Amino acid sequence: MKDDPCAVQLEKREGEPVQARQLSFQKACGCHEELLLEWKNDETAREQSFLPRVITAEEHHRWFRAVLARADITLLILYWGEAPTGSVRFERAGEQAEISYSIDSRYRGLGLGNRLIGMAVQYAQETLALSRLCARVKKDNVPSQRVLLANGFRNMGELDDRPGYLFGKQLEAHSQQIPEIAPPPRISHL
Ligand SMILES: CC(C)(COP(=O)(O)OP(=O)(O)OC[C@H]1O[C@@H](n2cnc3c(N)ncnc32)[C@H](O)[C@@H]1OP(=O)(O)O)[C@@H](O)C(=O)NCCC(=O)NCCS
Repeated sequence: MKDDPCAVQLEKREGEPVQARQLSFQKACGCHEELLLEWKNDETAREQSFLPRVITAEEHHRWFRAVLARADITLLILYWGEAPTGSVRFERAGEQAEISYSIDSRYRGLGLGNRLIGMAVQYAQETLALSRLCARVKKDNVPSQRVLLANGFRNMGELDDRPGYLFGKQLEAHSQQIPEIAPPPRISHL
């Protein structure tokens, strides 16, 4: 009952802060396949994706298996208490990675997106030992731009090939500036 979306809405109205439950990351595994497809095909997530078409379960299955098998991709699920609430994916190219992320529509507007990116930055530094993170964001995706800016990303300018911006963040563990390189090519439907 406590993790039922309705209970969460109720808690939201009653003012329970996000901090009232512990936030943690779990590496994605087979049990998350269906949920990730649901998140990918969520209307807003599709609108804000550079590949906005609906993904079939079959396509998703192939992509998901490939992602789990790749050493250069890390896919994490954000849990708020016992409830899976969002995901972040790191696609690594050398010392940098591009991140892609979303929060379950039932949990948006609670500050979880902000916390997700903060935790992703920490994970990138401490666990993945990365020097730089980047994200590609559509021009009208204000919530996404706000969570990046709130976590120290800078708008690096417009993308060459689509109507969006490239955001970047130099990670603190590495004080030395590394040369700017293009974000890694996408391997997938996401
Ligand atoms: C982007 C996303 C992860 C943000 O998660 P969230 O949990 O809703 O975000 P938060 O609650 O932390 O709020 C983020 C900020 O956006 C603001 N915001 C939320 N909805 C907004 C809206 N419709 N218009 C303008 N600002 C909005 C909030 O006020 C907050 O700003 P503040 O911290 O300066 O007050 C979430 O909206 C999402 O999953 N969107 C669909 C997928 C997506 O866009 N992924 C990113 C692709 S680059």
